[in-house]
Amino acid sequence: MTSSAILRLENVSLKFSQMTAPAVARVTLALAPGDVLGLLGPSGCGKTTLLRIIAGFESPQAGTVEIAGQLVAGNGHWVPPEQRHVGMVFQDYALFPHLSVAENIAFGLRFAKTIRRQRVAELLALVRLTGLENRYPHELSGGQQQRVALARALAAQPKLLLLDEPLSNLDVQVRLKLREEVLEILKAKEISGIFVTHDQQEALAIADQVAVMRQGSLEQLGTPEEIYNQPASRFVAEFVTQANFLPARRKGHLWETEIGCFAFQNQDSKDDIHPCEDKGDLMIREEDIILQPDHDGSAAIETRRFLGREYRYCLRTPSGKKLYARTPTAIVLPIGTRVRLSVVGQALRFFPHG
Ligand SMILES: Nc1ncnc2c1ncn2[C@@H]1O[C@H](COP(=O)(O)OP(=O)(O)OP(=O)(O)O)[C@@H](O)[C@H]1O
Ligand SMILES: [Mg+2]
Repeated sequence: MTSSAILRLENVSLKFSQMTAPAVARVTLALAPGDVLGLLGPSGCGKTTLLRIIAGFESPQAGTVEIAGQLVAGNGHWVPPEQRHVGMVFQDYALFPHLSVAENIAFGLRFAKTIRRQRVAELLALVRLTGLENRYPHELSGGQQQRVALARALAAQPKLLLLDEPLSNLDVQVRLKLREEVLEILKAKEISGIFVTHDQQEALAIADQVAVMRQGSLEQLGTPEEIYNQPASRFVAEFVTQANFLPARRKGHLWETEIGCFAFQNQDSKDDIHPCEDKGDLMIREEDIILQPDHDGSAAIETRRFLGREYRYCLRTPSGKKLYARTPTAIVLPIGTRVRLSVVGQALRFFPHG
């Protein structure tokens, strides 16, 4: 990516003094202007710490942070948070309880009174809160409080907005609606965003790029399609796709498993299977499995759940392992049916043991 990136991190690391391992370890990434990055990873992997480094609330011990071409941390440089033009929205809203909605939004604005009032009115309209300006945070719903937090973060006209699990306290309908609105605002105002979420579906749905973190490090950075279709590691595959994993051994052009053989396919050339890596786990996504009733089939249907658009079957393998398969609702297979499994297209991925 060229130097026009809105954000560029190079080998950024931070270790808290009381910890043995770094909270953020050698993170390198670049974000193009206007893009939204979905930051995904398990609890404690360093997502909030990384956002705090970008915003300037923490100082990295190594590496550099560049925002809109300006070095803001590292190599002896330090630009304080208020001069970085970065907005931040937190999971718990962090509103000032003794200030009204309008006063919360206007808090950081250094304009004359009339201009400030006008800005606040624009922001209230933007987040659809017009009419509620004199309420206090405790008089608002969770979704409304989060809209105030969003308006406050947008008030300073940031180039980059950091959203730390902004929707996780909201029920699913409010969450989906507000998520779309946030994205619309970001795209309309050409603001780049980093959106932290625990929810892999959400990250895939909203982001131009997805970063998967593990124990402080970036495990994979790519488009949602790349992350889903070509997970770089077993960790990413498990975290993002919720696929099945079956022990497998390579035999010629086949992967041999307890439920049958599957045709070998080339993964990316960088993943070329080394001869000593011919044992491992085969990733089979639930939606890629085709079930064929067969008296001699190696798996049996244990449960069937109706999910509206599809059925989700739980199958039991000869060794007692559970496998899950999602199928269209046109064909209904009874519990107890023995089935043969095949897999659509190029869907399999192999992760060597070791
Ligand atoms: N101020 C601090 N002092 C010491 N350790 C900290 C501090 N802040 C975070 N940590 C530790 O750093 C690691 C990363 O924490 P962080 O809050 O960045 O994780 P996270 O990915 O945001 O997790 P979650 O999804 O639960 O919010 C954790 O092990 C955490 O305990
Ligand atoms: Mg966090």
